[in-house]
Amino acid sequence: MTTPPLPPTVRSAALARPRGIDHIVAGVSTSDGDGVKLTRVLQQPLQQRLDPFLMLDAFGSDNPGDYIGGFPNHPHRGFETVTYMIAGRMRHRDSAGHEGLLSNGGVQWMTAGRGLVHSELPEQEEGVMEGFQLWLNLPAKDKMCEPGYRDIQSDEIPEFTTAAGVRVRVIAGESHGVAGAVRRPRTEPLYLDLTLPPGAEFIQPLAPEHNALVYVFRESVWIGGSEVPTRRMAILDNDPGSDGIALRAGATNHSPARALLIAGRPLREPIAQYGPFVMNTREQVMQAVHDFQNGRFG
Ligand code: CO
Repeated sequence: MTTPPLPPTVRSAALARPRGIDHIVAGVSTSDGDGVKLTRVLQQPLQQRLDPFLMLDAFGSDNPGDYIGGFPNHPHRGFETVTYMIAGRMRHRDSAGHEGLLSNGGVQWMTAGRGLVHSELPEQEEGVMEGFQLWLNLPAKDKMCEPGYRDIQSDEIPEFTTAAGVRVRVIAGESHGVAGAVRRPRTEPLYLDLTLPPGAEFIQPLAPEHNALVYVFRESVWIGGSEVPTRRMAILDNDPGSDGIALRAGATNHSPARALLIAGRPLREPIAQYGPFVMNTREQVMQAVHDFQNGRFG
């Protein structure tokens, strides 16, 4: 078997000082929308720690009763929602006139900005529905920007395989010289979906001040001397001397491990949240509620 040639950056040397795990989080089972069962992995008390990320939900079920209600019309203001569908079909509609079908492997990147009302409803009555929704904060100066929306189909997400056989999908940011589908200048989000054969290692350079998490959703992954099991989020430390993260799939795994690696530059601005409104002050949140109630969300 021959190894295909790789761009030089993929052969980058090992890290001098990889990050370790700060702590591991299980998340809580809850439901949202019209009874959609999900695990809230990143909850409100972790928003400062994982700034600029505000929320991470994981959903996954083959029981239609757990997802069929979907997320009927609801508002957002002040941040971005990133929905990544592993399996299933979901229809998006919003008050700015955007509509799109999110399906297997696709991403929907919505900038709520000054506000919109949208719905996310399943377009399937049976089968597996699995995916993630991440909330990414907007800097204060952009919170009232024009709402935006982008549907990124699965084949538009840049993908590569490392020499070790790790498949990398680059949803946002840059990895090994491959630019992702989305770039954001201020928060510089990195969003990777990694599939790692048993024992395979993956390395990603990372600025030490960027907050980072790894969410494992198949098998297990090792970071330093600690194992991160399925359906757990590892929050990585911010050791100022560190130069990135090295993760390795468990050598005894029976099938490839799969994990999200998410990192970003913290905004270090006050966070005021009330449900689907995330602003900087309580007054701004009250204004959002008032504007929504008075039909000023498009
Ligand atoms: Co929503």
